[in-house]
Amino acid sequence: MKKTKWGNVFLPNHSYIEHKLSMMRDKDTPKKIFKELIEEVSIMLTYEATKDFPMQDINIQTPLMNTTCRIIRGRKPAVIPILRAGLGMVEGVLKIIPQAKVGHIGLYRKPDTLEPVEYYSKYPTHLEEREVFVVDPMLATGGSVSYALNSIKKAGAEKIKFLCIISCPEGIERLQNDHPDIRIYTASIDERLNDHAYILPGLGDAGDRLFGTL
Ligand code: PRP
Ligand code: URA
Repeated sequence: MKKTKWGNVFLPNHSYIEHKLSMMRDKDTPKKIFKELIEEVSIMLTYEATKDFPMQDINIQTPLMNTTCRIIRGRKPAVIPILRAGLGMVEGVLKIIPQAKVGHIGLYRKPDTLEPVEYYSKYPTHLEEREVFVVDPMLATGGSVSYALNSIKKAGAEKIKFLCIISCPEGIERLQNDHPDIRIYTASIDERLNDHAYILPGLGDAGDRLFGTL
């Protein structure tokens, strides 16, 4: 992991993540490949974000002998994508933690005010006992994820990490201000937002590229 100037922002330093990001940024990358790349980078971010899960000893019998080895201790994971674009990350998270329950929150940014508008939410039960991974490929102004985190915390969640593919300083600072307890795992911290609150250089509209609604 690469150190960032923000204490709770984690940036994996990996040649393949950088390579896959470059392919995602290319406007000519077809929808099918774009979707696969989002999933692959999500696997890698989940790998980093689950590194510190506590372990416990178990006794097992291999084909050759009895031995003590370690498994993850008592976590009940959940993944909550912010619709639509967050859906593209879910399968990647589930490749690492297949037992995770899946919740959803549907938000879109109002084009004029950029304020998030909620149109759906449904979360797994007992969120207070779960390790929750909120996922959305893009952290732009931070308005959407900040809103989603308010809703998910209100539903009881206490242990939450946020995974995104591309972030920017404006969104990180907003999130740190609104939710200083949340760790952010991001594959890239880009330069800045443009006048329409799109990330530069970014990859464009993640939802439109994932679902072919350009
Ligand atoms: C995009 C993206 C985030 C949000 C980020 O979603 O997937 O949810 O914008 O912007 P913010 O940090 O400024 O809030 P969008 O509103 O385009 O909806 P979509 O996923 O349905 O395309
Ligand atoms: N939402 C996106 O999909 N892309 C951006 O660059 C900003 C918000």
